[in-house]
Amino acid sequence: MKILAIETSCDETAAAVVEGVDEDLKILSNVVVSQVDIFAAYGGVIPEVAARSHLEAMMPVLDKTMEGISWNEIDAIAVTHTPGLLGSLLIGTLTARQLAILHNKPLYAIHHLKSHIYANWLESNNIAFPLLALVISGGHTQIIYMKGHNQFEIVGTTRDDAVGECFDKVAKILGLPYPGGPSIAKVASKNNKYKLPHPRVEGLDFSFSGLKTAVLRAVQKELGLPISHPSHDLKNYLNKQQVADFAASFQRTAIEILAEKMEQALTKFPEAKSIVVSGGVSANEELRKVFKEKFGDKVYFPEPKFAGDNAAMVGAAAYYEILAGAKSVDPCYLDIMPRSKIN
Ligand SMILES: Nc1ncnc2c1ncn2[C@@H]1O[C@H](COP(=O)(O)OP(=O)(O)OP(=O)(O)O)[C@@H](O)[C@H]1O
Ligand SMILES: [Mg+2]
Repeated sequence: MKILAIETSCDETAAAVVEGVDEDLKILSNVVVSQVDIFAAYGGVIPEVAARSHLEAMMPVLDKTMEGISWNEIDAIAVTHTPGLLGSLLIGTLTARQLAILHNKPLYAIHHLKSHIYANWLESNNIAFPLLALVISGGHTQIIYMKGHNQFEIVGTTRDDAVGECFDKVAKILGLPYPGGPSIAKVASKNNKYKLPHPRVEGLDFSFSGLKTAVLRAVQKELGLPISHPSHDLKNYLNKQQVADFAASFQRTAIEILAEKMEQALTKFPEAKSIVVSGGVSANEELRKVFKEKFGDKVYFPEPKFAGDNAAMVGAAAYYEILAGAKSVDPCYLDIMPRSKIN
C-alpha cells in the first residue's frame, strides 16, 4: 500500500510517499521545506507568515514528492489535521481534501503526536509492546503508555512549557539563533559549571518554565546584574565561554530531568519493554547518549532527520492506523483542530 502523506502543522511544509508491506515501511520520497530561515530573523514562528509560506511551498513540495510516482499507484492520502497552528493546519488539510476528491482516494486524518511517535517505525518494525513513548517537541512534553499499536494513554505531561520551547527560550537569553535546540547543542561546552535546579513535580508530569527562569537568574548573577535587567539585553554582556558553559549546564539539566522521569515511569510501569523517544528534541546527541547509557537496548530513537516535523512519519502513523482498520474520513468535511489530545 502506498500512502501520500502531508504535514504542515507548524513551520515545515512536508510531503512523502511511504509504502507499507505487511509491517515493513519503505520511504519512496520525502520532501521537507523548512521555514526556519525566515523565522530565525524573528526569533520564533509567526503564525500568519507560516501559513502564507505553506501556501507558497505546498505545490512545489507535492510536485517534487510525486516525481516518478503516478497517482494510480497511490492507495491513500494522509494528513495532519491536529494539533498545530490553525492557518498552517488549514493549508495541508485543504490540500489533502482536494487531492482526495480529485483523485478519488481515501483520506486519513492523523494526529501530529502519533506521527512523531511512529517516526520510530520508519526505522524498526520490531519494537516490543507495551512501551513508554516520550514525545519531546516544540509544543509538547509527554509520556504516553502504549499497550499496543494505536493505544495511547497519557501518563505524564508538562504543566507549563514544553522542553523544546525551553531550549528555544534559553537560546534567546544566550543570544543564540532560532531554533534554539540545535544552536545550544552546537555551542555547548564540556563543562557542567552552573548548577541548575530540577523541578519537583509530582508523578510523571514535567515543568520547564522554572528551568528557563533559573538560567535567566544564573546569567544575571554571573554578570553581576540585577534581576530587573531585561532578558533580551543579557546576550550583549556574555562572552563566548559563558554562553558555551550556560548552554552545557542547561542542556545537561534538561536531559537529566527527562531521564529521571523516564526512570520513574519505568518503576511505575515495570512491564514496559521499550522506550520510544520522538519529537524535535530527540535529535539531541547528548540526550541520545545519556538515554542509551541509562536504558540500553530498550530505548529507540528515530533517525535524526525524522525527529522534527516531516511527512514520512505521518505516512507511518497512517499505515499502522489503516492496518488496525481505521476508517477514512469524508474529504468534504474534514476539519482541523488546533488543540487536541492524542487518543
Ligand atoms: N538537536 C536538538 N537538541 C535539542 N532540541 C532540538 C534539537 N533539534 C531541534 N530541537 C527542538 O525541537 C523543537 C522542534 O521540534 P518539532 O518540530 O518536533 O516541534 P513542533 O512541531 O514545533 O511542536 P509539536 O510537535 O509539539 O507540535 C524546537 O523547540 C527545537 O529547538
Ligand atoms: Mg512536531
